[in-house]
Amino acid sequence: MPGLRLEGKNAVVTGAAGGIGLETTILFLREGASVVMADISEAALEKALAKAKEVASDMVGKVKTAKCDVSKEDDIKALVESVDEWGGLDIMFNNAGIMHADDAGKFAIYTFASYHVSPHTHTYNPQTPSTLPRRSGT
Ligand SMILES: NC(=O)c1ccc[n+]([C@@H]2O[C@H](COP(=O)([O-])OP(=O)(O)OC[C@H]3O[C@@H](n4cnc5c(N)ncnc54)[C@H](O)[C@@H]3O)[C@@H](O)[C@H]2O)c1
Repeated sequence: MPGLRLEGKNAVVTGAAGGIGLETTILFLREGASVVMADISEAALEKALAKAKEVASDMVGKVKTAKCDVSKEDDIKALVESVDEWGGLDIMFNNAGIMHADDAGKFAIYTFASYHVSPHTHTYNPQTPSTLPRRSGT
């Protein structure tokens, strides 16, 4: 399809079973990317995959799911390596996380540290070997 901005690109979206992650997955698929939908909840992933396939039914890329807890470095490493069969990672969307209403006073310590700093720290190193040789990726 002409005009697809992500055709040929391989993306990983964390927290892809709902909300922003699912909508981003659908957008990426509509723009021609192949997407690995990663989430801690396998049950939610199953439903989200069905929804993505339904809404982006004219996708030209591939889509698959991966159970992954972004607070675990080994999970992130396996996730990034799972894109090798498609030729390697181009786009990493570090979206997974939670926000508690009662985190107002400890936001910087708990939510940010556990669900934002850790995933970013964990994804930076494992994704680097995948993107560096091709001198592209985001
Ligand atoms: N929605 C907003 O208005 C808003 C505002 C600011 C920031 N954010 C941030 O954006 C991100 C997505 O928001 P959302 O509203 O789509 O959230 P959401 O709760 O709808 O979806 C988050 C997804 O992340 C998954 N998840 C949670 N912990 C995980 C883990 N350890 N490993 C893997 N997956 C995990 C959940 O299962 C869920 O599918 C979050 O990090 C959130 O903190 C959202």
